[in-house]
Amino acid sequence: MTIGGSTHFSVFLLVAIIFLCSSSKTLNATCYASEKQALMDFKKDLKDPYGRLSSWIHDVDCCKWDGVVCSNRSGRVIQLHLQSPAREIDVVGDEVLADPKSPLSGKISHSLQNLTHLHYLDLSLNNFSGIPIPSFIGSLRSLRYLNLSGAGFQGMVPYQLGNLSSLRTLSVRREVWQPPTLRADNWQWLAGLFNLEHLDMSGVNLRLASNWLELINTIPSLVEIHLSSCQLDLISHHIGRDTFVFHANFSSLTVLDLSGNFLGPVVPRWIFGLTALASLDLSGNLFEGPLPRGSWNLTSLQHLDLSLNYLNGSLPNELVHLNNLISLNLRENDFDGFLEGIWNWSSLTSLDLSENNFATFLPSQLSTLTALISLDLHGNHFRGSIPRSIANISNLQYLDLSNNNLSSSLPSEVFTS
Ligand SMILES: *[C@@H]1O[C@H](CO)[C@@H](O)[C@H](O)[C@H]1NC(C)=O
Ligand SMILES: *[C@@H]1O[C@H](CO)[C@@H](O)[C@H](O)[C@H]1NC(C)=O
Ligand SMILES: *[C@@H]1O[C@H](CO)[C@@H](O)[C@H](O)[C@H]1NC(C)=O
Ligand SMILES: *[C@@H]1O[C@H](CO)[C@@H](O)[C@H](O)[C@H]1NC(C)=O
Ligand SMILES: *[C@@H]1O[C@H](CO)[C@@H](O)[C@H](O)[C@H]1NC(C)=O
Ligand SMILES: *[C@@H]1O[C@H](CO)[C@@H](O)[C@H](O)[C@H]1NC(C)=O
Ligand SMILES: *[C@@H]1O[C@H](CO)[C@@H](O)[C@H](O)[C@H]1NC(C)=O
Ligand SMILES: *[C@@H]1O[C@H](CO)[C@@H](O)[C@H](O)[C@H]1NC(C)=O
Ligand SMILES: *[C@@H]1O[C@H](CO)[C@@H](O)[C@H](O)[C@H]1NC(C)=O
Ligand SMILES: *[C@@H]1O[C@H](CO)[C@@H](O)[C@H](O)[C@H]1NC(C)=O
Ligand SMILES: *[C@@H]1O[C@H](CO)[C@@H](O)[C@H](O)[C@H]1NC(C)=O
Ligand SMILES: *[C@@H]1O[C@H](CO)[C@@H](O)[C@H](O)[C@H]1NC(C)=O
Repeated sequence: MTIGGSTHFSVFLLVAIIFLCSSSKTLNATCYASEKQALMDFKKDLKDPYGRLSSWIHDVDCCKWDGVVCSNRSGRVIQLHLQSPAREIDVVGDEVLADPKSPLSGKISHSLQNLTHLHYLDLSLNNFSGIPIPSFIGSLRSLRYLNLSGAGFQGMVPYQLGNLSSLRTLSVRREVWQPPTLRADNWQWLAGLFNLEHLDMSGVNLRLASNWLELINTIPSLVEIHLSSCQLDLISHHIGRDTFVFHANFSSLTVLDLSGNFLGPVVPRWIFGLTALASLDLSGNLFEGPLPRGSWNLTSLQHLDLSLNYLNGSLPNELVHLNNLISLNLRENDFDGFLEGIWNWSSLTSLDLSENNFATFLPSQLSTLTALISLDLHGNHFRGSIPRSIANISNLQYLDLSNNNLSSSLPSEVFTS
């Protein structure tokens, strides 16, 4: 009995010692000499006029350096957070113009390749103008997050990135204040990123990547696609003008931004089958004619931007019945017709129908849009009087009814609420 008990006790002691050792290691991982050296070499090739890497000192454990994160368990460097801090200088539409405060520049050393456990690399908003994205980044096989946005890289996005099969996030967007210097002519390598969830290559020239749509369709894991201003077209995807036979595989897609391209003339029907979609931006393309009727399955849609196209005809009931819309922007199209039917937009906070051809009376249903904060109807031919019920939209902060053919002035209640 006693012997058995003491055996139990020593087993307990042993387990406790192992546990204590492993937990102290868990708390204070120190960095590997080879990885510290790789980071020192990386620093040596960078220009750091703002002293952002001043904590990167040889005598200090590299796991304690700014921007470096080690695994608590293995002590390996697993994350590098080296994005330049930015101040927000302006907001244009939903675009935030960020101004990098203290960019790193210079060269990117091959020594990064020695960080074999790196799974997070953020170099965004630095100033690597004049150099291409290093192709050796494609050998950092553990990467799950790669952000090179707004970092000024030039030339071809290297096809070697297609080897990063663990990648969940790839962000290589050009900020609007940067020159268009990145391109991807043969984009076939994208198919290697079969776990990708978040893709942002806005502003990268993809004009020659004519199979872009088939390509992204091979990655059903995609949740967000941002391909704004990429010079995309649908020419190769058209078999005649109206026949668009395409089955979209990305059923988890919640954000689709294809604004500022050359898409059109017909709004592709497959888009209306994306049931998980919460945000759709097709503004600034070459879409024309009426919106397609028939089953729209966009039941999750919250933000819809079709502005700056050549769409015409009346607003389809399918649109009017999108129950979860928060913002709707149809600015600068040729829509006309009546605004009738049951508006089921009780969540709508922003409605922009400006610069279209609406020539009808202002509908009294406006007052059912009780969540509205911003209403812009300027530049149409709306006629008749302004319904008094508009004063019942109690959250309204922005209202533009200018350049219409309205006969009354605003009800005085508008000014008191
Ligand atoms: C771990 O680090 C903390 C503070 O950083 C220190 O108080 C503690 O003694 C260290 N533990 C070991 C086992 O080195
Ligand atoms: C490591 O442990 C610390 C303290 O327990 C924790 O704050 C930190 O998030 C952990 N880091 C990682 C990468 O798990
Ligand atoms: C990687 O580390 C090894 C061993 O420490 C070293 O010989 C090699 O030069 C390093 N490679 C780079 C690219 O720094
Ligand atoms: C990439 O970096 C930019 C700039 O720091 C940031 O705005 C953006 O959210 C990042 N992208 C992702 C997907 O995290
Ligand atoms: C980036 O660096 C280039 C020269 O290397 C310089 O001309 C340019 O002004 C810098 N851009 C920013 C945003 O700092
Ligand atoms: C991907 O890795 C394999 C094996 O290491 C290599 O043979 C191939 O050239 C790499 N492909 C690219 C596109 O980097
Ligand atoms: C769509 O996904 C299915 C299964 O995930 C796959 O077999 C098919 O090839 C994909 N279609 C395209 C066009 O990639
Ligand atoms: C919407 O769903 C219905 C029923 O599942 C389907 O028949 C229809 O084709 C879908 N519409 C679109 C545009 O995909
Ligand atoms: C709507 O646009 C289409 C395509 O541009 C055009 O053929 C048609 O005439 C337009 N309809 C009206 C009423 O303007
Ligand atoms: C309006 O929305 C509610 C839920 O928000 C839904 O139950 C109802 O069917 C919708 N009505 C129409 C006409 O779409
Ligand atoms: C404004 O209304 C008047 C009277 O109904 C009409 O004669 C005129 O053509 C309209 N003007 C515009 C720009 O719609
Ligand atoms: C505004 O709302 C109040 C209370 O909900 C209602 O009694 C009134 O008729 C409404 N006024 C207009 C002009 O719709």
